Amino acid sequence: MSITYHDPASLGDMRQACRLASEVLDYLTPFIQPGITTNEIDRLAAEYMVQQGTTSATVGYQGSGSVPFPKSLCTSVNHVVCHGIPDDKPLKKGDIMNIDVTVVYKGWFGDNSRMFIVGDASIAAKRLCQITFEAMWHGILQVRPGAHLGDVGHAIQKFAEGNGYSVVREFCGHGVGRRFHEEPQVLHYGRPGTLEELKPGMIFTIEPMINMGKRDIKEDHRGGKYDGWTIVTRDRSLSAQWEHAVLVTETGYEVLTLSAGSPPLPSFVTATKT
Ligand code: MF3
Ligand code: CO
Ligand code: CO
Repeated sequence: MSITYHDPASLGDMRQACRLASEVLDYLTPFIQPGITTNEIDRLAAEYMVQQGTTSATVGYQGSGSVPFPKSLCTSVNHVVCHGIPDDKPLKKGDIMNIDVTVVYKGWFGDNSRMFIVGDASIAAKRLCQITFEAMWHGILQVRPGAHLGDVGHAIQKFAEGNGYSVVREFCGHGVGRRFHEEPQVLHYGRPGTLEELKPGMIFTIEPMINMGKRDIKEDHRGGKYDGWTIVTRDRSLSAQWEHAVLVTETGYEVLTLSAGSPPLPSFVTATKT
């Protein structure tokens, strides 16, 4: 397998897939309140995808492990780093949660995630969500032809660690398009000028996982058995993640996973470079 370089003129359906993935998150936003269960969120999303004419890329997804992912999206609450499986536990005020949605539309994969604050949360938890959002954008701002993936990782790591947090190393962003996960791997740490050179037509996700405590993670073996997916922080500190899919253009970047309900860009992002 190798990196795919897309002709921007042929990306109409990919743009649509990505916008639809973002619109699933828009749709879910008002429902994220204390008392709702992540299974209810999953069902709302599944019904909405039917209306959109999309399908979930995660239901039945067979990762590197042996257990197919059972649900239409991932819900990662508090110390869950990623790949949380929706269940029947109600959310409570003060929880923070990542919802990660990947839809398939006309054979194209749109992959994105956001943090949600349930009711209200501690200043510390809200700061983690905000700094992680800004860290993702610092990575996006590096994207242009001639830059390197190490520039993206470095910008994220420098910002996150500079704010007293740690960067998860074991999971990364990825090429996306006609496949869910393809080359290149997009690390959220690294050294400037290293790794793959960016060229127009590349599409990949930037999806940093940032921990309030140490960067170490583990499979969630609480309750004596592992569900095959859920990853948690080893020290049980809070973890946050945001994800966009980004196209490398002739002069910079185009964020594909934007929609009417996307959060406003950070103030340091003056304009979308296209
Ligand atoms: N959407 C995740 C990503 O950003 C992958 C989820 S795979 C699942 O790459 F099986 F856990 F849903
Ligand atoms: Co992804
Ligand atoms: Co995702």
